[in-house]
Amino acid sequence: MTTNTQSRTQWLGRWGFVLAATGSAVGLGNIWKFPYMTGEYGGGAFVLVYLACILAVGVPVMMTEIAFGRRGRGSPIDAVRRVVTESGRTSAWSLLGWMAMLCGFMILSFYVVVAGWSFSYLWKMLTGGLAGSGVDDMVAIFVANNENPWNLGFWSTLVTLATMFIVGRGVQAGIEKSVSWMMPGMVVMLLVLIVYGVFSGGFGEALRFLFVFDAGSLSSDGMLAALGHAFFTLSLASGAILTYGSYLPARASIARTTLSVALADTLVALMAGLAIFPVIFANGMDPGEGPGLIFMSLPLAFQAMPLGTLFGILFFVMLSMAALTSSISMVEATVSWLCDSKGFTRRAAAWGTGIVLWLISTLAMLSFNLGADWTLAGKHAFDWLDYLTSRWMMPLGGLGMALLAGFVVRSEIFREELGLSPAWYALWLFMVRYVSPLGILVVFIDALGIARV
Ligand code: PFF
Ligand code: NA
Repeated sequence: MTTNTQSRTQWLGRWGFVLAATGSAVGLGNIWKFPYMTGEYGGGAFVLVYLACILAVGVPVMMTEIAFGRRGRGSPIDAVRRVVTESGRTSAWSLLGWMAMLCGFMILSFYVVVAGWSFSYLWKMLTGGLAGSGVDDMVAIFVANNENPWNLGFWSTLVTLATMFIVGRGVQAGIEKSVSWMMPGMVVMLLVLIVYGVFSGGFGEALRFLFVFDAGSLSSDGMLAALGHAFFTLSLASGAILTYGSYLPARASIARTTLSVALADTLVALMAGLAIFPVIFANGMDPGEGPGLIFMSLPLAFQAMPLGTLFGILFFVMLSMAALTSSISMVEATVSWLCDSKGFTRRAAAWGTGIVLWLISTLAMLSFNLGADWTLAGKHAFDWLDYLTSRWMMPLGGLGMALLAGFVVRSEIFREELGLSPAWYALWLFMVRYVSPLGILVVFIDALGIARV
């Protein structure tokens, strides 16, 4: 066994890990990003590739990451190094841990801006700022909300503070407690919105848009986007799941927990699509509207339904909570690394990380106003952070993890950690050795235009 299993914190409850990992997975990626990407990339074909990526790449890689975390009992850097050393190999592989940590940090830098949108819409709902607005007003309100850097900066700063406050309090009191009541609430809210969608007149069109596969509508770029989103939505290759896995008690089943997290995440994304697209189609809005999609469409739905303001408030509370249970997981890797390896107290690690984060997230925030012209190759900071992480770092990190687990690490280690029957173990090995890496490579090579598949 590894050297330092005794001292590390573990989840308190039997459901601690599943709740926290689900809290990390289910977030803005499901409710904000999945719908607008599906809209941008043309619907059903994107959804199909995304689902295939979850199964063929996401699930095996998630199992691998949890196993790395639990075996190495440390931050991504330390855990990967320990497992590789235990296999008698060189520790250059811990670069993968570094990349994951950086990736989680970069994601959070733009994530707090989007979470800030959610908080500011909650405020608008509470204060009646959306009442009586039509389609065009909703677009104008979204734009106006972004135009003022003080306004936008206020909300993203608030999210940063809240994130660091929770993380600073620790794994059990901070993270575990906050996720145990908000996940069920989220699901109830989405069900209410779907019921509304069924009666809105746009439901049939939404179903067709999401689930009818039209091969012609999917570009190579769309496939790479779907792959990247599979990583993003499951919180993979960014340190979150690995670090949460490092607190997982030895007796828990990695396969079972992975399947529940992936299933919950997928269901919430599809539910979000079913809640949002009927409103889009019933109101003649453009599904390819981009990042503002849910903020422009859902408030319309709330307005038209009985008790809409109340539901609107509840929804944005839930969305904000979903964002927070994800944002805390993105810095947990960095914070646990600072505590374990650099001797920081947890509080100092959280606030130190928070300050650096705040500086970078301010750049992302300014992309929507003052810095709208500060672009590089047509993208501003917000887009770059999203693009680099989802399209490059996560797929490459996942590829590295799969190859490392499949070919480098001693096979007893994963056999022990995963605790699978021989047949299931063989399937997992086949996935991480061949299916996941080839899947990632094919999408990459296609997107780079080197070959056409
Ligand atoms: N999985 C989160 C979502 O779908 O919103 C985003 C995320 C969380 C990405 C944690 C990466 C991460 F480390
Ligand atoms: Na997600």
